[in-house]
Amino acid sequence: MPAACHTSEHLRAKAKRFLPRMVFDYVEGGAGGEDTLGRNRRALDAVRLLPEALNNCTSCTMQRTLFGVTYAAPFGVAPVGLANLVRAGTDEALARAAWKAQIPYALSTAGTTSIETIAKAVPGHAWFQLYVGEDPAITDDLIARAERAGITVLLVTVDVPAPGKRVRDLVNGLTLPLRPSPAVIADTAFRPRWLLQMLTGGVPKLETIAPYFKDEREKPHASQIARRVSSPRFDWAELERIRKRWRGTLVVKGVLNPADAVRAADLGAEGVVVSNHGGRQLDAAPASIEMLPRVRDAVGDRLKVLFDSGVRSGDDIARALALGADFVLIGRPFLYSIAALGAERGPERLIGILSAELENTMIHMGCSAVDQIARSHIWSA
Ligand SMILES: Cc1cc2nc3c(=O)[nH]c(=O)nc-3n(C[C@H](O)[C@H](O)[C@H](O)COP(=O)(O)O)c2cc1C
Repeated sequence: MPAACHTSEHLRAKAKRFLPRMVFDYVEGGAGGEDTLGRNRRALDAVRLLPEALNNCTSCTMQRTLFGVTYAAPFGVAPVGLANLVRAGTDEALARAAWKAQIPYALSTAGTTSIETIAKAVPGHAWFQLYVGEDPAITDDLIARAERAGITVLLVTVDVPAPGKRVRDLVNGLTLPLRPSPAVIADTAFRPRWLLQMLTGGVPKLETIAPYFKDEREKPHASQIARRVSSPRFDWAELERIRKRWRGTLVVKGVLNPADAVRAADLGAEGVVVSNHGGRQLDAAPASIEMLPRVRDAVGDRLKVLFDSGVRSGDDIARALALGADFVLIGRPFLYSIAALGAERGPERLIGILSAELENTMIHMGCSAVDQIARSHIWSA
């Protein structure tokens, strides 16, 4: 482990030494035997980028315009639930870092900071990720709150018809609300720095959905949350209803099947996120990067295609752009950056690492702007 962090993997290694096992596993883990988690990485590694020689490419612009906003780089912060478990104030720190760096940030429905607080911290900047549960009144209220808070982009997650089977969380006994079982106490005792900031910052709560658990005795338990915020009954008719209610930009997150992406376009969505939830849902799913070019081919430019799952470097961002993504989202590395280096320095460092890596890759490929990264840069044997 080097003294300074030069890659997202360095941040991950440092985060592992700061976080209790239970929290590290919550972030790192995937569903089932973690086949999809591994497949995401292997499939990205297998994508080869062909360099172009002697292009006199000395500097690059990484700007990309998405949904009417010009961002400084073609990547952003994916929505992550329970983020403040990593460190107090993580949601807000990520939102502020993204705002400062002019890249997108999305707050999760399962966020540990409310929509209203985030919107106040970064006015007009944050996106909101919506989980759709069994009660349409809650969905409608979340949509209304997002609109009132000035959110303009809504990511509707569609890949949680059932909770993913997270074996690590089952083994570690990760529960909601957090219960200080002997195993949890033993785990956290070895991580005093984490424990100290948790004790001073307070146990994270699901602030955005807390109002829907009105009865004080009704503390949000994992199974209730699962039912209230994601339901197997969520279907295309409900998505169409949401489309009619939401006046802003609608993005369908968690699409792998090209036919689903076409259906999202037919319904009037402005974007899809090609994603398998970072390998946390269906453990027999294809790698997201395998489906990306197929989704792009199916929808053409009818809507924007965003991509996530396994992105860890500038090379990975370039791979996704070359295979048809308009934009890339990144989940775990942002959480690791905060665990490793703190709320301010962490995300800033990660954004710096990824931007410098992407620029380096673009120079090798002879691309002075991200728009020049194309499928012709992909080499296949
Ligand atoms: C700890 C954690 C919590 C997550 N929570 C949510 C969530 O609440 N809503 C959602 O749509 N996706 C959630 N995701 C999925 C991310 O938005 C994203 O799809 C995924 O992290 C991308 O893969 P990566 O972590 O390999 O970059 C979560 C991912 C992680 C790692």
